[in-house]
Amino acid sequence: MNRRVHIDLGERSYDVVVAPNLLGDCDAALAPLVRARRIALVTDPWVGDNLLPAFAPTLDALSPGWTRFTVSGGEAAKSFAGIEALLKDMLDAGIDRGCVLLAFGGGVVGDVGGFAAALLMRGIDLIQVPTTLMAQVDSSVGGKNAINTAHGKNLVGTFLQPKIVLADVSLLASLPEIELRSGYGEVVKCALLRGEREFAWLEDNLERILARDPAALVEVVAMGVETKARIVSEDELDRGRRALVNLGHTFAHAFETQAGFGEFPHGYAVATGLACAADLSARLGALAPATVERVTEHLRRAGLPTRLDELAGDGEWRAAAIERSMLHDKKTVAGRTHFVLLEDLGKPCVSDAVPPAALRETLLWAGAVDGGEAGA
Ligand SMILES: NC(=O)c1ccc[n+]([C@@H]2O[C@H](COP(=O)([O-])OP(=O)(O)OC[C@H]3O[C@@H](n4cnc5c(N)ncnc54)[C@H](O)[C@@H]3O)[C@@H](O)[C@H]2O)c1
Ligand SMILES: [Zn+2]
Repeated sequence: MNRRVHIDLGERSYDVVVAPNLLGDCDAALAPLVRARRIALVTDPWVGDNLLPAFAPTLDALSPGWTRFTVSGGEAAKSFAGIEALLKDMLDAGIDRGCVLLAFGGGVVGDVGGFAAALLMRGIDLIQVPTTLMAQVDSSVGGKNAINTAHGKNLVGTFLQPKIVLADVSLLASLPEIELRSGYGEVVKCALLRGEREFAWLEDNLERILARDPAALVEVVAMGVETKARIVSEDELDRGRRALVNLGHTFAHAFETQAGFGEFPHGYAVATGLACAADLSARLGALAPATVERVTEHLRRAGLPTRLDELAGDGEWRAAAIERSMLHDKKTVAGRTHFVLLEDLGKPCVSDAVPPAALRETLLWAGAVDGGEAGA
C-alpha cells in the first residue's frame, strides 16, 4: 500500500512517502538524512500533545538530543511575531547550522517551520511530516512557506524544498471531519487537473475516502502529491505553469477576503471556487455544461459547499465587492486577473482575458447579489 513519489528538482530533488503506519517504521528512511544530527521538531500544541508521543521513540533513536518547539495553533502562528518567537526559542536552545528542522503538524506548522528553516543561519535542512489532509496533499510539497501580514495571507515567505516528506495517512484518523473535508477540496482540485480517470476514481471511492479507509487515503494523497510534483517540477519558482495549481483559488481567495479569514476552512472556499471555475469555463464555451453538473454534484456529495450561501449563510455576498477583491489578488498582474479555466477534465488553461460580464454571471449563479458597485 506504500507509495513513493519523486519530486524531480535536480539537486533539490526529494521523495514523498505516502503510507499508513509510517511513523513507527520510518527510521530507515530518515536515518541517512538526519545522520544522527540534532532535530529541532516544530509542532503545534494539539499535535505535540496527542501525536508526538507515538513518534518520540523513533526520534530518540535517530537524534538523541532532539528538542520540541511548539508554535501556537492556528493562523496567528504565521506572523512576524510567531516567527520571531520561534527563532528566538531555537537560538536560545542552541539550534545551529548542523541541526535539522522537522515540521510535524498541519499546514500552519509546515509553513512557519519551513520559513524558520529557511531563515535560521541562512537555511538549515528541512523535513516535513504533515498531519492533516491539507498538508499531506498540498502544503508540505513544493517548498513554499509563508507568513501572513496586515496586507493579507501568505505575502511573506521563501522557497525551501524539504529533504523528504513523510505522509502517514494513519494520522488522519483523528482529524476533525471539517478538516478532512477541507483537505478533500484540494484533492478534488487535483483530480480536475489530472483527468477523467482520477476524477472517476474519486466518484467511485468517495465513501471509502470519507470513512478514512487507509488504502483509499494512500491513493488520494499520492494522486494529490503526483499532481503537484508534475507541475512544480516544471516550474519550481512559480513563474508560469505552477499557476495551474491555483484552479478555483482566484475565486476562493476573494471569498476568503470578503468574508474575513477564518470564517470557513480554506478547502471549503476552494470547493465553491472550483464550482465557479467550472461554471465560468462553461460560460466561455470551454467546458461542457454536463461536466459542470458532474463537478458540483461530486462536491455536494462530499459535503462541500458549491454556492456562496452554503459557504457562509449570514450576510449578503455582493458581486462587485468580490470582483474588487480579485483585483487585489497576488495573481492579478497589471490590472488583469488570472483565472485557471478548464477545457475538459485534465485540460486546464490560464486566461487573463475573462469578459467581466461572464464573471458577473458566474458570481450570480453562485448566489451573489448584483449591484453594490458604489462601495459594498
Ligand atoms: N505552503 C503551501 O504551499 C501551502 C499550501 C496550502 C495551504 N497552506 C497553508 O496551510 C495552512 C492550513 O493548513 P491546515 O489546513 O493543515 O491547518 P492547521 O495546520 O491549522 O491544522 C488544522 C487543525 O488540525 C489540527 N490537527 C493537525 N493534525 C491533526 C490530526 N492528525 N488529528 C487531529 N487534529 C489535527 C491542528 O492542531 C489544527 O488545530 C494555511 O495557513 C495555508 O495558508 C500552505
Ligand atoms: Zn488551496
